[in-house]
Formats: sequence, structure tokens, C-alpha cells
Amino acid sequence: MTTPAPSRRSLDNDLFLRALRREHTPRTPVWMMRQAGRYLPEYRATRAKAGGFMDLCRNAELCCEVTLQPLDRFGLDAAILFSDILTIPDAMGLGLSFAEGEGPQFARPLRSVAEIDALPEPGPEDELRYVMNAVRTIRSALGNTLPLIGFAGSPWTLATYMVEGRGGHDFAKVKALALNEPDAFDRLTARLARTVTQYLLAQIAAGADAVMVFDTWGGVLAPHAYQRLSLQPMQAIVAGIKAVAPDVPVILFTKNGGHHLADMADTGCDALGVDWTTDLATARERVGGRVALQGNLDPVTLFASPERIRAEVARVLHSYGPGSGHVFNLGHGILQQTPPEHAAAMIDAVRELSPAYHVG
Ligand code: CP3
Repeated sequence: MTTPAPSRRSLDNDLFLRALRREHTPRTPVWMMRQAGRYLPEYRATRAKAGGFMDLCRNAELCCEVTLQPLDRFGLDAAILFSDILTIPDAMGLGLSFAEGEGPQFARPLRSVAEIDALPEPGPEDELRYVMNAVRTIRSALGNTLPLIGFAGSPWTLATYMVEGRGGHDFAKVKALALNEPDAFDRLTARLARTVTQYLLAQIAAGADAVMVFDTWGGVLAPHAYQRLSLQPMQAIVAGIKAVAPDVPVILFTKNGGHHLADMADTGCDALGVDWTTDLATARERVGGRVALQGNLDPVTLFASPERIRAEVARVLHSYGPGSGHVFNLGHGILQQTPPEHAAAMIDAVRELSPAYHVG
């Protein structure tokens, strides 16, 4: 493994990293999950130049272009690598495609123990080098202006797509496989955890300042199943990153995972993403100041009027309350039909209203 770049790079705007470390900041930093995406006309124009979505992901220059678009438009406090969580299963040979309007699909979903045990562990500078090239290109374009977030999917969330072959509804196939073949399923999540760890460490070496693990589907599991299938592999990832890059903040986000926040904080991560179904006040109580919190405006709020958006921003800031350790974000990805000027209203409101929570 290559040595990670120095994690305490000196940045013009390091509010995001300081908030993740629960250090004092003069205001609350803000970025948006899926901030580069189809709600922006400039994204749609670049995407049209690239061809398909994966063609865009494989083109470092165009990845960089779309990563910078929301920063230029809104002045956010962090950049996030433009890529996808499904790059890893694609590199494992499952045959990823994005049918227009249908979401991701795999041509060769995993169906048997033999297929699980035959899966390769793709190397970040081999099959996934295009992602690292995007990180290097973005890092060099950002210079020392802003932090860059690297990311990956959680092993459980990747496994749901790999077994179901597409986004799930009842997750019957993947849950049945986990019940019928528990040992093989543990080998699958362990293999994904190793691959994700190497992938995130390589993103750090290539210039990411913090990393986030997206566990979009952890919230569909019963509590005991969550512990084994989702949390344990994420814990292995946190441990693997901390062993090599102890100063790089790690954010875990389980959508609909409000009742797991205390256990998630025990993994040794630095911050937790929170969706809008848990109040930040409740979340803060559950984690007892051990980690920073990121969230949690309902993305649908951005369909309301700018005045209403501002009031909802005020509510989120008030819910977290005074003090450090809050990164403002949506509770999930920004929706495709969102008017960009409504996202701007949210960001302006955070800039204007949050300093009152950071006095003294
Ligand atoms: O946040 C960012 O701006 C960085 C980019 C990013 C994308 N996907 C770009 C993308 C990130 C962080 C992701 C993560 C991701 N991808 C997750 C976890 C986060 C979450 O939303 O829960 C998941 C589950 C995926 C899998 C995936 N990729 C889905 C469900 C889709 C949407 C399919 C559709 O057609 O609606 C994608 C495609 C995708 N990934 C798009 C973008 C901008 C849209 C593709 C397009 O341009 O057509």
C-alpha cells in the first residue's frame, strides 16, 4: 500500500475538517449529498458530452469538471469525488449498466456460494485506477482551496446490489442468501470490507482529505442482522483505515439507521450521517459527544419556498444546538427535480444563521 498523503494539508477553507474533528469553527460548514448531479443543467451538459454515466466516471477530466460545478455555483465547504459506489462490484466483473430512468443493473448478479468464492478483489490502482485518476485530477484542480471527500459503499449495501442485480424493494434475494448461507455471506462482506478499505486508502493517498461510507440499505435490516451484516464490516473498514491513516476523518452513514447511532459511534469513526427521521438533538444525545454529526434536512424541503427552506434550516441548526461538531447536509441525496436556486437558499441560510451557534 502506498503511504497516504499528509492528512493535515493546509487548506484555505478547512471548516468541514475542523467540524468533523469537533474543533471550533466560526460557522457550520455545509455540503450536499449528490451535489454534482442531474438537478444542475451544467451537469446534464457535461454528461451528454461523456455518453453514458460510467463513461463520465471513467473520464478524469469530466469527473473533475462536474465535481467543481456545484462549488462554482454555490460556494460549498467540501468537494466530493464524482464517482459511484458500484464501481467496486463492476470491477469484480458483475457487468454494471445504467438503463435510462431505471437505475443501476448488473448483468451477472451473485446467486451461489461458488460465485461468491470466485469473486476477485480488484486493486485500486489496477481495475479501479480510473477512480484514483479522477481523485488526483480533482485534487490538483482544487489546489489547497477546499477539502475533498472520497467515498465507497458499505459492504452490505454493495451486497444488496450484487445479489438483487438492481436496487431492492423487499431485498428478498439478498436476505434469503444471508440466512441460508451465513458463512459464505460473511466471506462476501469480509471480502468487500477488504476491497473497500484498500479503495478508500488509495483515495486518501491520491488526495482525499476525508472518507465517507454510504450504507444506503442498512436500515432495512432487523437490529441483530444489522449488527452482523452491516455494522461489523463497516467496523472492519474503520479499523483498517485508522491503522494506516489515523488522522483522516471517517464518516459512516446508514440511511434509516437512527436507532444504531450509538453502536456506530463505537466503531471509532469520526462522524455519522443522520437522515431526517432522527432529530439531531436526539442523535447528539445518543452519541454523547463522541462523534460529529452530518445532516439532516429532508431533501424534499427544497421543493418548498425559499422562506420555508430558511425556516427549516433554522430548525435543523436549533436541533443540533450550540457548539462544534455539526456539518450541515441533506438527510439523503438531493433530488433530480430540485430547483438549483432553492439549494442556494439553503446554503445561504446556513451561512447566515449558523454563526450564532458558534459564539464563545
Ligand atoms: O455526492 C456526489 O455528488 C458524488 C457522486 C455520487 C454519485 N453516486 C453519483 C451518481 C455518490 C456519492 C453516489 C453514491 C451512490 N450511488 C449511492 C449511495 C448514496 C445514496 O444516494 O444512497 C448509491 C445507492 C448509488 C447507486 C446509484 N448510482 C443509484 C441508485 C443511481 C441512480 C440511478 C438513477 O438513474 O436515478 C446511480 C447513478 C448516479 N450516481 C447518478 C449520479 C449523479 C445519476 C446518473 C446519471 O447522470 O444519469
